[in-house]
Amino acid sequence: MPDFEKRRLLLAAAGHSDDMSWLLGDRIVDDEIAARFRLLAARRSAGEPLQYLEGTVHFGPIVVSADPRALIPRPETEGLWELVVAALPEAAVVVDLCTGSGNVALACKHARPDARVIATDISGDAISLAVENAVQLGLEVEFLEGDLFGPLAASLRGVVDVVVANPPYVSSSEFDLLPAEVRGYEPPAALVAGSTGTEVLARIAAEARDWLTPSGTIACEIGETQGRACRRMFADYEPEIRRDLAGRDRYVVGRAPEGRDLD
Ligand SMILES: C[S@@+](CC[C@H](N)C(=O)[O-])C[C@H]1O[C@@H](n2cnc3c(N)ncnc32)[C@H](O)[C@@H]1O
Repeated sequence: MPDFEKRRLLLAAAGHSDDMSWLLGDRIVDDEIAARFRLLAARRSAGEPLQYLEGTVHFGPIVVSADPRALIPRPETEGLWELVVAALPEAAVVVDLCTGSGNVALACKHARPDARVIATDISGDAISLAVENAVQLGLEVEFLEGDLFGPLAASLRGVVDVVVANPPYVSSSEFDLLPAEVRGYEPPAALVAGSTGTEVLARIAAEARDWLTPSGTIACEIGETQGRACRRMFADYEPEIRRDLAGRDRYVVGRAPEGRDLD
C-alpha cells in the first residue's frame, strides 16, 4: 500500500480525515487507533476503495459522505459542476438527474444559494445518502426517488434553467473490464447503462426538452468514447463536446431546442 494511503487511513482511524495537520502535531496513537488502523489497512489491502474507508470525499467546495449506497464522486465530475455553475442565471431552477450521493446538486446549491435545486435518483439507497449529506451540509436541496424526470412535479415543465446529469454510461461489456476495486464495491446500477452504455444519455436527450426553459442548458457527463454518439443524440440541442483535464471527451453541453412540445 502506498505511503499516502497509509497516512490517510491513519487519519481516518484517528477520526481526523479532514485535518492533515494532525499528522504533524504531537499525536497520540493509542491502542484503539492502532487497532482501527490495522483493520482499515486490511480492508484496503483486500481491495475496498479508500474513499469508502475514509467515509468522506472532497467535491468542489464541499465534503460529502461516501459509502456503498452510492458511487464515489470522481474528480472529473467537478468539471461538470463548474460548467453548470457558469451557466446558472439568477434564481435558477436546476434539476440534477442521477444524483447519487447528491454531490453535484449540493455543490450547485453551495455555489448558488439563490438557486432552487431538485435532484432525482432511481436508487432509494442513494437518495438516503444524499439526504444525509444535505442535512450534514445544511443545504436545502429537494431529493426525490425515481426514474430520471419521473418524480418531478408537472409544474416544473418548461421552467428548468439547467438539467445536469452524470448518468451511468458504461456498457455491460466494459463493466467486466473495470478495476476490481470499482466492480466489486460500487453499485453496478450507478455505472452500467445497458449493452451500448448510451441508453440513459439517449433517454435524457429525448426527455429534457419538455422540462427546459426556452433558454435552458443541458450538461451531461459522458464516456470518453461517446462524443460522436452524443453529438447525434443531442443534435437538437446544438451540442458541444467538452474535454476533461486529461484531454478526454467528457461532457456534452447544449441549449434547449426550439419548438419543443410542452403539452
Ligand atoms: C454515475 S452515478 C452518478 C452519481 C453522482 N451524480 C456523481 O456524480 O457521483 C449514476 C447514478 O444514476 C442513478 N441512476 C441509474 N439509472 C437511473 C434512472 N433511470 N433514473 C434515475 N437515476 C438513475 C444510479 O442509481 C446512480 O446513483
